[in-house]
Amino acid sequence: MKALVLAGGTGSRLRPFTHTGTKQLLPIANKPVLFYALESLAAAGVRELGLVVGPYGDDIRRAAGDGRSFGLDITYLRQDRPRGLAHAVAVARGFLADDDFLLHLGDNFLDGGVAAFAARAVAAPAAARLLVTAVPDPAAFGVAEVDPDGRVRRVEEKPDRPRSDLALIGVYAFGPAVHEAVAAIRPSPRGELELTHAVQWLVDHGHDVRADTTTSVWHDTGSVDDMLEANRHVLDGLTGRLDGKVDHDSAVVGRVLLGEGAVVRGSRVTGPVVIGPGTVISDAVIGPYTAIGANCRIHDSSIEGSVLLDGADVDRAGRIERSFIGRDAVVAAPRHPYAHRLVLGDHSKVHLHP
Ligand code: G1P
Repeated sequence: MKALVLAGGTGSRLRPFTHTGTKQLLPIANKPVLFYALESLAAAGVRELGLVVGPYGDDIRRAAGDGRSFGLDITYLRQDRPRGLAHAVAVARGFLADDDFLLHLGDNFLDGGVAAFAARAVAAPAAARLLVTAVPDPAAFGVAEVDPDGRVRRVEEKPDRPRSDLALIGVYAFGPAVHEAVAAIRPSPRGELELTHAVQWLVDHGHDVRADTTTSVWHDTGSVDDMLEANRHVLDGLTGRLDGKVDHDSAVVGRVLLGEGAVVRGSRVTGPVVIGPGTVISDAVIGPYTAIGANCRIHDSSIEGSVLLDGADVDRAGRIERSFIGRDAVVAAPRHPYAHRLVLGDHSKVHLHP
């Protein structure tokens, strides 16, 4: 079966990181969130994959390439502006032809992957099949009302009064009828062609629309808190290995994945922790549940439950918790003891101790 992965959105809730890059390349345990979807689709037997990209398409192309390293053949499809998930399907019309396909949002993480869902979609084809899960806050998602036999009666996009607690988790299987639905719907009040409306169109026109419920851990990595939570979850399954150097004044405890050329000096690292290649940790306390990218420098600081992107530099910063620190960002103690000096991008958030 073909697959379509959508990576054209702007990620407004992940600002400032999405001012300079795309949310689908932000890392979970040092691997871009998009790669989890690509690996999961490859494991489900997909070979031909369409990747819908937006303004940061070149960055995504550089990272994922032609897909060979995933066992995929990737075709890049350009969406000029984020005009909705259904619009992305329209952009991919030529690539998809009249084939059945899986659709996976590029910023959604599903533990255990989509192989079982894909197998069901092949065994019992429907016009649309939705993967859903029970959530405490359904109003934040697409919501499905499902009969006991799995037939979908109604889907609504972020309803004020949800009719069920079953959220659409960004993984779908479609037959070719979806193209007729996409062509028939009109933009929603937020100006987007909603995939949820296309699915409702299929229901209204008598097509077979099914839902499969999953209890696997799922994260829509749309916000910093979601990213930190997904990071924590993936690190829980981490296998440790020390490819870098740890000096005699350091203690490395628990599962720690230390990249090549990384150095730990006079520090304590408590897993699960992943530290990227070339990073230098000195006189610091790291972990647990922390992912540090490549070529970072951490000195005389304590970091727990956080994510640091490549090239971050943290120096005498005291204790840092539940933080998400961008590429080449610098966090350092003030030179003057009574003043903070801040150079912050738009939408940055700094929580200062009184
Ligand atoms: C999109 C879909 C929504 C779905 C959600 C899953 O919402 O429109 O139906 O429940 O993804 O993450 P968005 O996150 O783009 O607002």
